[in-house]
Amino acid sequence: MSSANAADTVVCAKRLVTCVPGAKASNPLGVIEDAFVRLRAGRIAAVGLRRDLDDASLAGATIFESELVTPGLVDAHTHAAWFGSRHEEYALRMAGADYETIAKHGGGIVSTMRAVRGASQEAIAASLERRLARMVAQGITTVEVKSGYGLDLESERKQLRAMRDASASARAPRVVPTYLALHALPPEAAGDRRGYATRVADREFEELAAERLFSFVDAYIERSAFSVDDARPLLEKARKRGFGVRLHVGQFADVGGAELAAELGAKSVDHLENVGDEGRAALANAGVRAILLPVASFTLAQQPPDVEALRRAGIGLVVASDANPGTAPTESLPLALAMAVRSYGLTVAETILGATREAARSLGLDDTGVIAPGAAADLVLWDLPHEAAIVQPQGVPRAERVIRRGESIFVAR
Ligand code: NIG
Ligand code: FE
Repeated sequence: MSSANAADTVVCAKRLVTCVPGAKASNPLGVIEDAFVRLRAGRIAAVGLRRDLDDASLAGATIFESELVTPGLVDAHTHAAWFGSRHEEYALRMAGADYETIAKHGGGIVSTMRAVRGASQEAIAASLERRLARMVAQGITTVEVKSGYGLDLESERKQLRAMRDASASARAPRVVPTYLALHALPPEAAGDRRGYATRVADREFEELAAERLFSFVDAYIERSAFSVDDARPLLEKARKRGFGVRLHVGQFADVGGAELAAELGAKSVDHLENVGDEGRAALANAGVRAILLPVASFTLAQQPPDVEALRRAGIGLVVASDANPGTAPTESLPLALAMAVRSYGLTVAETILGATREAARSLGLDDTGVIAPGAAADLVLWDLPHEAAIVQPQGVPRAERVIRRGESIFVAR
């Protein structure tokens, strides 16, 4: 049943990929053929078969037709509020230089820190707004964005405020802001990691939390960044205060980040190229999702994470772009999806769920990433014949219309 309302939008699809798993194992994406979705007041009001729509139920509604409709894509790990470019470092790395060595000599994250510190809040917001618009054109309706390039109170605040400003635009995707509190040690900390982490917990975190600038707290747990002991006080405090935690873990070495994430009840652990059986077991027990970042391991020429072991452990898989100027200089979640299938061996269904329902769950958004009554009216109408084509290396945007909360925020010309 689907009763009429003149303000409704009705989207008809040859293939409606609901991302609500079907009753049959052969239909893991919950695809309904010749289907419709009715949108009302920013929510999905009804889902059904097209043949059940009659003229009366369509009266006055705005109607769109498409071959293929999916939930809006959710990019659950980005550093999209970066400023400047690291193309010179990229060229050096392609010629053989090592990411961690470049960082040790003042490049890497600290080089983007200098660009962010030198930019105004308005300039960062304007650059992010343009970047978000390009993401929307690729089908993204929700994007997690991390700070972490300011590395002092004023500059982190500036980055987080720029994220807030850029997300206010009517055509922006929904932005989920993360305070990446421990990313790299700024030069003024003079090598004192523990002292810096303590100050971030006591001062930066308190001030930025008071301004309600973020929903999640993140830390880079890595041999060349912060240890479990450095990060624990801040993260425990964040949890106690009701913030979600997501962590960069095992990008270069297993230093116990997965166990810490499990202990804290983190919403996600991200990267995981270097995580062992114990870490995986802890994640599985705690129900922490794994966010896979294939563009980063591609530019770093790394081995993929052990996807089969993650799967066997029953860990929920998410795929994200990691959009950042160093390890994943891209704005394209679809590029990451293509790499997840080809290089990481994910199935098409795992990959699409990893960029919709599973990604939304990792952000605590249970009403997002699915096409079901009551869910957010975030949809992509694709200029593609089948969902399996979304994960081909298209290299160009293939969304024909992107709808967020019932409103078209992108239409291809
Ligand atoms: O997820 N590894 C830490 N953070 C980013 C890279 C940041 C940068 O190089 O600017 C990542 O890969
Ligand atoms: Fe990252």
